[in-house]
Amino acid sequence: MTPAPGTSIVIFGASGDLTSRKLIPALFRLFQQDYLPAGCPITGVARREKTHEQFRQEMQEVVSARLGKRFDPQAWDQFASQLFYERLDLADIDAYSALKDSLQQIESECGIPQEPTRVVYLATSPSLFSAAVAGLHAAEMIPPREYADKLRVVVEKPFGRDLESAITLAGELDRYLHEDQIFRIDHYLGKETVQNILLFRFGNAIFEPLLNRSHVDHVQITCAESQGMEGSRGGYYDTSGAMRDVLQNHVLQLLCLIGMDPPSLFQAREIRDEKLKVLQALRPGSSGPIVNWAIRGQYMAGLCDGKAVPAYREEDRVRPNSNRETFVAMKVLIDNWRWAGVPFFLRTGKRLPKQVTEIAIQFKNPPLNLFSTVECDGDLCDLVETRPNQLIIRIQPRESISLRFSTKRPGMNYQVQPVSMDFDYDQHFKTVLPEAYERLLLDVMRGDSTLFTRNDELEAAWRFVTPVLQAWESSSSSPELYPAGTWGPSAADRLIAEAKAFWRAPTGTDV
Ligand code: BG6
Repeated sequence: MTPAPGTSIVIFGASGDLTSRKLIPALFRLFQQDYLPAGCPITGVARREKTHEQFRQEMQEVVSARLGKRFDPQAWDQFASQLFYERLDLADIDAYSALKDSLQQIESECGIPQEPTRVVYLATSPSLFSAAVAGLHAAEMIPPREYADKLRVVVEKPFGRDLESAITLAGELDRYLHEDQIFRIDHYLGKETVQNILLFRFGNAIFEPLLNRSHVDHVQITCAESQGMEGSRGGYYDTSGAMRDVLQNHVLQLLCLIGMDPPSLFQAREIRDEKLKVLQALRPGSSGPIVNWAIRGQYMAGLCDGKAVPAYREEDRVRPNSNRETFVAMKVLIDNWRWAGVPFFLRTGKRLPKQVTEIAIQFKNPPLNLFSTVECDGDLCDLVETRPNQLIIRIQPRESISLRFSTKRPGMNYQVQPVSMDFDYDQHFKTVLPEAYERLLLDVMRGDSTLFTRNDELEAAWRFVTPVLQAWESSSSSPELYPAGTWGPSAADRLIAEAKAFWRAPTGTDV
């Protein structure tokens, strides 16, 4: 559904990378598919002096370069007539009333009624979040409680760097905004395959009865990237690391979706309530010191995607003696009736062999091993250990769902061979999947917060990872080094080997 007319989008931080690389292209796609409400102005706001025309031109350059031959100049011209730019120093709280006047003028030129629904996107550094909200308040741009829905504020991560700072930030936003007005983006939740996890689990009757401690041996969630510190990312990353950058948010969100119980209704509150219960039930996967269940690594120089790449400590804007982790692996438990005793192995890292994100659910072996299992490579076959059934939900790069099971190998013997049944999005739907930001921006305009992180979820996630971060930061030891282009430090293998399992080595196309 296209959101109702009367919406106005305002992007704070319009000179940043996020605006030109993600937000404007996503809004342009929504416009092309008729999902943008009629006459919806999009106003970029940043510190530099710039005309509307200059802003349009700058955005066009980035979008046309990204889309290449798929760029439609005519559609762009129509879209660009809805693009505007306003100058504002976001830290200058008194200046917001002038912004309000300019927005009202733009909105009236676009035929938007006096009381528009404003979506304000904070695509800025988190240090400006609270000033931005205080500025909106000072200019009386925050509607009274009964019209709260007329203002929606979108916030980008990082939402704090530990539990304490997350609580402080939440307090600053809460001072002026109601929780329902805050849309915290985790772009993973906008990915088509991530949304499909809920449909797959709760829209089919055959899988869900198997997803519990009686049938599942363990679950692996991998979010691997082959990239390192491209561009000037090193500066940010060296203050963040793999735990804060990806595990605390994207990986834990995947864990919630695969671990949660069915909601009573497919609605924002019910779904987020169930996700919260998973986070609240999280426990370390082993007793004793943290190193028994959470390990960290950092990449050395190596070969990635066939090219020689430098060590993390040699990357631009990274401290040469940095102890920041570029890899994390964890064994965790969800201490509830459904999952008691089932280990969940989580891992994420930079400069791993492939870019791949997947959830692999490994089932228990049959109680009695009646057959021998054979695996063949061409004509060469080997007897191998029984291969357990696996359900693999591939989030990227090739979105798919595969079920690995055993079948009789043709011939005169009773021999079992593992095979797989695959569903591949590309092949089945033959359509380009929407970008995560398209879906999420549309949902903000529709006022649907299902795919956004609620504050209590966020705090529960920080509550779980903060002790690990504190232990690492106060420790005299360093992350274990791993060569770029490998699957991380050997400690990660030991972590999973204790559960008599091993990490899958997904190639990006295999099952
Ligand atoms: C971002 C992290 O949130 O997610 C990046 O800051 C990471 O470091 C990215 O590369 C991964 O997202 P995607 O969609 O490319 O898998």
